[in-house]
Amino acid sequence: MPEATPRGLTRLAFGGDYNPEQWPEGVWHEDVRLMREAGVTMVSVGIFSWALLEPAPGVYDFGWLDRLLDLLHENGIRADLGTPTVVPPVWFYRAHPEALPVTAEGVRYEFGSRGAICHSNADYRAAAANITTRLAERYADHPALAMWHVHNEYGVPVSACYCDSCAAHFRRWLASTHGSVEGVNEAWGTAFWGQRYADFEDINPPRLAPTVGNPAQALDYRRFADATMRENFRMERDILHRLAPGVPVTTNFMTALSQCDSVDYWAWGREVDIVTNDHYLITDGRRTHVNLAMAADLTRSVAGGAPWILLEHSTSGVNWQARNPAKAPGQMARNSLAHVARGSEGAMFFQWRQSRRGAEKFHSAMLPHGGTDTRVWREVVELGAALDSLSDLRGTRTQADVAVLWDWHSWWAQNLDWRPSEDHDPRERADAFYEALYDRHLTVDFAHPEADLSRYPLVVVPALYLMTEAAGNNLKAYVENGGTLVVSFFSGIVDEHDAVHEGAYPGPLRDVLGLTIEEFSPLLQGENVRLTGPDGSELNGDVWTEFVVPRGAETVWTYADGLTAGHPAVTRHRLGEGTAWYVSTRLGAEGLDALLGWAVEDAQVVAPADLPRDVEVVRRAGASGTYLFAINHTAADAKVALAGTGTELLTGVRAAGRLEVPAGGVRVVRLDG
Ligand code: GLA
Ligand code: ZN
Repeated sequence: MPEATPRGLTRLAFGGDYNPEQWPEGVWHEDVRLMREAGVTMVSVGIFSWALLEPAPGVYDFGWLDRLLDLLHENGIRADLGTPTVVPPVWFYRAHPEALPVTAEGVRYEFGSRGAICHSNADYRAAAANITTRLAERYADHPALAMWHVHNEYGVPVSACYCDSCAAHFRRWLASTHGSVEGVNEAWGTAFWGQRYADFEDINPPRLAPTVGNPAQALDYRRFADATMRENFRMERDILHRLAPGVPVTTNFMTALSQCDSVDYWAWGREVDIVTNDHYLITDGRRTHVNLAMAADLTRSVAGGAPWILLEHSTSGVNWQARNPAKAPGQMARNSLAHVARGSEGAMFFQWRQSRRGAEKFHSAMLPHGGTDTRVWREVVELGAALDSLSDLRGTRTQADVAVLWDWHSWWAQNLDWRPSEDHDPRERADAFYEALYDRHLTVDFAHPEADLSRYPLVVVPALYLMTEAAGNNLKAYVENGGTLVVSFFSGIVDEHDAVHEGAYPGPLRDVLGLTIEEFSPLLQGENVRLTGPDGSELNGDVWTEFVVPRGAETVWTYADGLTAGHPAVTRHRLGEGTAWYVSTRLGAEGLDALLGWAVEDAQVVAPADLPRDVEVVRRAGASGTYLFAINHTAADAKVALAGTGTELLTGVRAAGRLEVPAGGVRVVRLDG
């Protein structure tokens, strides 16, 4: 698991993507002067610079990058140096047009944007290896070099290519994964609809077809595309490790963004030396700080609990959503410090100086178009000072209360076509359960379904359509040994090839939940069902219902109307030392809170008492002590109970017994003892 830290960085990371090639060198001197004023400790450079570094095939111009890295070093700023392989120069594409990716519809993309890459293309691989080698040879010993930033956000904007090279590569991947063409036929169930293959050569990517294609083929293609991007990452990483030993290698993730669900970050987390993440607020009317917390928790989890670095977020609005509101005063600091609370070793931004030209000129930056006499700049300077006062917490780990199961392969399978209801969105369930736990002030670790869960009193499964037998056994052992499990509907349905588990639903979960499901009965749009429960309590469900047959489980809430009236809606199964809950409909916030209330009691999870909604309290602990973060997202001052005494690090004030957190403010207490 990743444990490395950026070479020579002795403070938290604070800075951003720095693309100085947009300005004359005179501006660079103003940049570093202002970076020092703001307390910038590290910047990411060269991410998109291939066309400048290699202006013609085999012709290199490193002079400007030499001067830039020297300048950063003279000013005590560390460099996160990019390999520019996300945008090959136009000369490369003119020589190798087939390196441009092809869509499932057979359309080849053109040059002129970014990220237009066929990851199977041998010429691309050779050119990427070459520029990476040149950079590593030149800068391995440069004193500014803190870490390598390979590529940029693998998986977006193109998550898979459907060209002929990819087809050939896919066949090789299938051969090594399934052994034989018969293995593919078996796994994909090609006996259905007459899709049987006699030869690997006949198999293609899931290209445009008249109607729904083979789901297992589509699922395997997502795995193949992910694995192919990872091959290219490993290729670059191994060059960097060989030529620059000891310098950590990262590539920036986007863990919780449903728009970027094409990479399996569990697998990627094992490949990088330091996990780094990019997070932007999705301003769709929901509470943005909840999605932020979720992204940070997920990032820490793919890092195996180790510290990670927030490599990009925004000082204010972005420019790629339909509507891009500015951040409110204080919101940037709350965002940045919430990431730190949840394990980030700093807070970096896209980007340092706001662009005048190009696609992202309306995206906020640390140094806005308006210069230093702006609110954004003043808040950036304040944030730099705040982070500086938190330097000692480096290396400590965020403490989680509960686990939520998460698996990209299951999202991929579930999002294929022709399911019982298109209204069931597994990511919506993950968000909703996360939000319900957040509202109980519980800190969440995410876990792979086959991971060791024994240290968590409560494990929640919001939606896990694809589940292996091994995962089912894992959950059963977890409950038998005293764990409390909560499972939401349409989980444990198919195996790793999208084949329905044998026997009644939910195959690998039948024993642990103590029930079977005879039939799904999704609801029509706008349709609701009432549930009646203990002491006459009532809940509401929508989207989904099921005919649940208890086989050991007790019924806690019952459907009161609709087709499933009289049948169990929510059940509880005591098994061994533990308890397993099952909910067969889509509960709203109120229902989830009620359900989790019971489960939390079974699990004896103790949440911080008397905290107002949207006052976030998170702890990091380790060799240097215990740090309590309190982030007040509300417009009212709040009080947070403090066990013992400590020093508030942002103000230097002593705190005892309780902590005052001003409206919109953040407090970080280092506890005594
Ligand atoms: C991504 C990219 C950056 C920039 C930002 C803008 O995270 O990595 O280059 O485009 O988005 O939000
Ligand atoms: Zn391709």
